[in-house]
Amino acid sequence: MKIVMIAGSNRAGATSTFLLRYIGRLLQGHQISVTCIELKELELPLYSPDNEELNPNVQYVLEMVKSADGLILATPEYHGSISGVLKNALDYMNASHVSGKPVLSVSSAGGPVGVSSLTHLQSIIRNLHGVNSPEWISIGAGSHGFDPDGVPLDAGMRERVEGAVEKFLDLTRMLTVDVMSLR
Ligand SMILES: Cc1cc2nc3c(=O)[nH]c(=O)nc-3n(C[C@H](O)[C@H](O)[C@H](O)COP(=O)(O)O)c2cc1C
Repeated sequence: MKIVMIAGSNRAGATSTFLLRYIGRLLQGHQISVTCIELKELELPLYSPDNEELNPNVQYVLEMVKSADGLILATPEYHGSISGVLKNALDYMNASHVSGKPVLSVSSAGGPVGVSSLTHLQSIIRNLHGVNSPEWISIGAGSHGFDPDGVPLDAGMRERVEGAVEKFLDLTRMLTVDVMSLR
């Protein structure tokens, strides 16, 4: 199983990116192959439908997404929605990259929860014909702390993250099952 994660913050020290890295380590603990694309490091030009030639960073992101069995997308909540850098990356994608793939949405908000950004992200995934995981993850005010190893300080948060990741992995296993092996 191959999981590709995209960190949608353009901020050094972003809590959404810390959380994604933590999720990546949880997955590696399950012997799952993980690629984490951090859009702060891998800059993508602004999407334009007029540009027919794809920038190499864009090509890399699209190849990774296409090759993934499942996707995990993280965003800060900006003005009740997702970040511009993540939206820009998603604008390059179409159903050929995402269709039928399970997607786990993750957000970090300044308020108690980031439901607006998560709802918007799930709507975009639906429009790309992806399959939204039954749980999502929101870290808000009060659960932004991480220890020096990048582990969330809040025990309840760790439990919720693990539960949401388990449900995402169950869905990914169901959707990637080898149909021939069932015959
Ligand atoms: C431009 C901007 C818009 C924001 N809008 C919201 C918002 O609508 N709701 C909210 O709860 N927090 C909002 N915040 C706060 C961020 O969501 C919060 O700081 C979050 O933890 C950032 O995630 P990060 O640590 O991954 O950068 C906003 C912050 C910025 C910079």
